[in-house]
Amino acid sequence: MLLSGQDDGAIERAAQALAAGELVAFPTETVYGLGARADDDRAVAAIFARKGRPADHPLIVHVLDRADAQAFSSGLGDAAGRLIDAFWPGPLTIIVPRAPGMAEAAATGQNSIGLRCPAHPVARALLAAARRLGVPGVAAPSANRFGRISPTRAQHVVDEFSESGADLLVLDGGDCEVGIESTIVDCTARVPALLRPGQIARQRIEAVLGQPLAARDADSPRASGTLEAHYAPRAKLRLMPGAMLNTALQMLGDSTLKLAVYSRTVPLPSGSRLTRRAMPDAPDQAAHELFATLRELDGQGVDLIWVEEPPADAAWDGVRDRLARAAAA
Ligand code: TXA
Ligand code: MG
Repeated sequence: MLLSGQDDGAIERAAQALAAGELVAFPTETVYGLGARADDDRAVAAIFARKGRPADHPLIVHVLDRADAQAFSSGLGDAAGRLIDAFWPGPLTIIVPRAPGMAEAAATGQNSIGLRCPAHPVARALLAAARRLGVPGVAAPSANRFGRISPTRAQHVVDEFSESGADLLVLDGGDCEVGIESTIVDCTARVPALLRPGQIARQRIEAVLGQPLAARDADSPRASGTLEAHYAPRAKLRLMPGAMLNTALQMLGDSTLKLAVYSRTVPLPSGSRLTRRAMPDAPDQAAHELFATLRELDGQGVDLIWVEEPPADAAWDGVRDRLARAAAA
């Protein structure tokens, strides 16, 4: 059931549902989340069931502020403290040591926990209302079935879960501004490591930490957003450099393939009847539109999506990462 995130009554109702151990989907500035109270292992188990998520993929716990984050951690440490000061509330998740006994199911038993303090006003209103009802934090993965495209609009969430029952409460907060999931930094290692690129770019994090981020080490806990194949549209997605895409389109001629092109610099050959979506030149705008565009093309029933590789610079890391994983599926 879709409820307006602008409506105080809807926020209260959603908070009560969370407090009662039910699932609620809600907007954040990155993507929509599928939430349950983090201190209720049975409620958290329902998230895994609903998403079809493997049991060994830990969930991020969403909190209102640093004090609430502290309750979930046995000690945030210096690096996490700096990142919190610099980037919270905002699209950054920190992995920190978990306080024993806290959010066991959300953390899938690992001794670390992912914490994020969202900036979206509807997410904050929901967290605040839930906290008044005794909810210490909300565990929430992206509100999509496992391996599929993350939702950036309330209707995407409704579409994802329509078959598993219409009972899911979905708070509508409009289009997610960032459009790709939060940057994740593992602060449990001696040298913090970037686990997932997002809108907050590596350089900004390194500037705050005063040191380079480590490469992700192979032993670090598996992160579903870091699986090679993820974010998959139904159509087969192929990534290629602009010149190659251009040549491929010329060779295709007047084909009747159900093919869509998603490119920044490559136009369709004249007379082509293929579908094309323009990728924005600004990386933040490209991230904002990315998942909605892939969903839209899927909705049109195309079999193939040919995507022009984004530029190599760091500002595109998040978009490039999501496209590479979508192509690997
Ligand atoms: O922007 C976001 O982060 C969104 C919104 C809803 O907040 N959430 C999100 O959740 O993307 P999800 O579950 O789709 O991705 C969370 C990622 C996964 O890759 C998970 O494995 C990783 O965070 N993660 C969570 N806890 C972890 C931990 N203790 N150690 C390592 N990775 C962890
Ligand atoms: Mg996800």
